[in-house]
Amino acid sequence: MSILLTGGTGFIGSHTAVELIESGYDVIIADNLSNSSASVIDRIEQITGIRPVFYKIDVSDKAALQNLFAEQDIDAVIHFAGFKAVGESVEKPLEYYRNNLDTTLTLLEVMEQFDVHQFVFSSSATVYGSENPYPYTETMKKGSCSNPYGWTKSMIEQILGDAAVANSNLSVVLLRYFNPIGAHESGLIGEDPQGIPNNLMPFISQVAVGKRPKLTIFGDDYDTPDGTCRRDYLHVVDLADAHVKALEYASEHKGVEIFNIGTGTPYSVLEIVHAFEKSNSVAVPYEIGARRDGDLPEFWADAEKAKTMLGWEAKRSLEDMCRDSWNWQKKNPNGYRE
Ligand code: WQD
Repeated sequence: MSILLTGGTGFIGSHTAVELIESGYDVIIADNLSNSSASVIDRIEQITGIRPVFYKIDVSDKAALQNLFAEQDIDAVIHFAGFKAVGESVEKPLEYYRNNLDTTLTLLEVMEQFDVHQFVFSSSATVYGSENPYPYTETMKKGSCSNPYGWTKSMIEQILGDAAVANSNLSVVLLRYFNPIGAHESGLIGEDPQGIPNNLMPFISQVAVGKRPKLTIFGDDYDTPDGTCRRDYLHVVDLADAHVKALEYASEHKGVEIFNIGTGTPYSVLEIVHAFEKSNSVAVPYEIGARRDGDLPEFWADAEKAKTMLGWEAKRSLEDMCRDSWNWQKKNPNGYRE
């Protein structure tokens, strides 16, 4: 089976490419490299011994996408491509809506044209918004997102639901990711943020490697056990495995199904810092700063549905996540840049 990964050179896409290849799938990657590097393709080949087919195209370029579908016999699509920086989305909402919605709509149109009906979407726990109690379950109504990035995920879920009503052949799996961290254990692929990292784990790794003097913890006065925010962190290779299971599911079912992809266990920012220090015997200097706008005190997944219906659950520990993040950072202090 041939699987198209849009955004397949990104953090989650590249790890999913590896797991798919190792499960025997043929992988075709479409990526415009706007936030990633072509050398990811070499790294995937180094890990798996198989080079994925690569198209350097923008998924919103309909003619280019039609050409890809004409040349390749695609059986299913996993759609990762999209802008994903929360803060930037507040500054550039129109770019976020244009890019994230356009790519999805173009992809769906071209899939319909070429009779491809299996679609796995890279959604986010952010669609639960601020109204829902935790742990989040898939049966909850979606909430209000605190930023345009989150709204694009929520809107795309809506679009996919409507498309599946109109086209009864369509099979859509929405994976709502919690907080993916870690890296492939080879240290060959990992998260490579441009500039100052927005997310916690890349920031911690850059502090540990000496690129930044200290971490600022965004608030320690939340109503949580240690006062810092709690999240459901999961290993990116576990997350990648969830996509393999989601594809199997999509090939056997029609309509839309939603799955939380998390561990079901929250950790606080301080717990993550201390776990990183302990797992890697390295210091992570930090200070307590002000709260960050839009942060929720805590949330985590009810991960039961993925377990019972997909046969997926996270296997890797927090120690694994910290060790693999650090291994990637140490081996690639400048990410994919030489
Ligand atoms: C985790 C915790 C911060 C950095 C966001 C998006 C979500 C998804 C993943 C992806 C929070 C704290 C962080 C720092 C800190 N999007 N923190 N100092 O906010 O849960 O989720 O990224 O594409 O949709 O909302 O993840 O890693 O940014 O933060 O104290 O320098 O770490 O306050 O509690 P978040 P995060």
